[in-house]
Amino acid sequence: MKFSIAFAVASALVAVTSASPVNPNSQGQSGSQGQQKSSGLTGPNGEPYVPGKWFDRFFMIIGENMDFWTVEADPVFANLWKEAPNGRLLGNYYAITHPSQPNYFSHISATSYGWNSDSPTNITGAESYSIVDVLEEKGISWAGYAEDYPVQQGCYIPYAPVDAQGNQVPHSYVRKHFPFISMENIYTNQTRCNNLYNADMFWQHLKEEKLPQFVYFVPNLLNDGHDTNVTYFGNYIKETWYNTFLHNSYFNSKALNYLSLDESGNTTGFNTVPGDNNNHIYTAIWGDAVRNDNVYDKYDWVRYNHSSISATLEVNWFGKQGQLGRNDTYAPVFSLPNSGSI
Ligand SMILES: *[C@@H]1O[C@H](CO)[C@@H](O)[C@H](O)[C@H]1NC(C)=O
Ligand SMILES: *[C@@H]1O[C@H](CO)[C@@H](O)[C@H](O)[C@H]1NC(C)=O
Ligand SMILES: *[C@@H]1O[C@H](CO)[C@@H](O)[C@H](O)[C@H]1NC(C)=O
Ligand SMILES: *[C@@H]1O[C@H](CO)[C@@H](O)[C@H](O)[C@H]1NC(C)=O
Ligand SMILES: *[C@@H]1O[C@H](CO)[C@@H](O)[C@H](O)[C@H]1NC(C)=O
Ligand SMILES: *[C@@H]1O[C@H](CO)[C@@H](O)[C@H](O)[C@H]1NC(C)=O
Repeated sequence: MKFSIAFAVASALVAVTSASPVNPNSQGQSGSQGQQKSSGLTGPNGEPYVPGKWFDRFFMIIGENMDFWTVEADPVFANLWKEAPNGRLLGNYYAITHPSQPNYFSHISATSYGWNSDSPTNITGAESYSIVDVLEEKGISWAGYAEDYPVQQGCYIPYAPVDAQGNQVPHSYVRKHFPFISMENIYTNQTRCNNLYNADMFWQHLKEEKLPQFVYFVPNLLNDGHDTNVTYFGNYIKETWYNTFLHNSYFNSKALNYLSLDESGNTTGFNTVPGDNNNHIYTAIWGDAVRNDNVYDKYDWVRYNHSSISATLEVNWFGKQGQLGRNDTYAPVFSLPNSGSI
């Protein structure tokens, strides 16, 4: 039932879009499609994929609060970058700060906004400009999917779901891990709210082969290791995701797929002692966008951080970086095929 309503809304949006007069963005879009053949794929609402330099889709999934070596020592994660198609370990990747929330902001905004708490906040005005604004300039589809998100589709404002007695449902969805919901230009806009989904819709969109081009996936507090540990997180990845990560050709084709943590686990001595305490985290990437010509390509030791995500998306779809005017301007772009010839 909900699904058919969503479909009706989606069709209406498509109709409005195609009926609208000259859209300044559509020229850029057809221009880039002229250079590169479209894949014929679409996002959830029928938005045609806009081809990128290295990939047509970026998928990211985030675990919680573990040091690099804690994760790399777990067999599931030690094997992921070895076994996934074109898998690679980004061995020198750092989160931005502590606690969680500002790291999630950094994923999409290339800044923590100097924020240092998990409390609900609203990022307003021009500050709420994020990578999705950049992507939308070219008509690139995007969505956030969260496990246990209390609504199927739309903006859910509270911190976490509550039970009939008004108590927070434990081990569930939390707002601090879903950065879109804090951005004023998203939570005040119904069209954009409709890009936020319960994770069930991810599996639906995967099955129907209509994932958007930027996919942000957040597990619940059990599955991401937050209320559990790396063994639990690893088992979840193995049971829920391994088949998709390793064997789904739709998922991996023309794709850059990414699994990382929001921040490291041991915060003692942050920025004062070397090693994991400096927020060193595990990151694996894989998919067609990565090309491993020899065994050395299985590792990348460039010092990345969360701002490299925006920088990579910008160069992939716009051929330049820094459109947010924040740390995306300076962050190194992931080393993908032809990255030397930007
Ligand atoms: C953020 O904005 C929403 C929607 O207007 C509002 O319900 C909420 O109280 C605001 N939260 C904060 C922390 O200001
Ligand atoms: C809401 O978002 C849509 C999609 O990004 C955009 O086209 C529209 O202009 C926005 N509406 C307002 C009032 O900003
Ligand atoms: C994680 O927790 C489970 C259950 O408590 C335990 O069996 C396992 O050894 C723990 N893993 C690590 C790496 O501590
Ligand atoms: C956390 O880091 C501090 C400082 O390096 C170290 O003394 C401590 O043993 C670490 N704790 C754990 C659990 O690794
Ligand atoms: C870069 O990120 C840091 C930490 O989040 C932030 O304090 C700083 O303002 C950002 N720089 C720019 C230019 O946005
Ligand atoms: C991320 O890395 C870039 C490049 O080293 C650096 O300019 C930036 O300050 C770092 N931190 C943030 C928050 O982006």
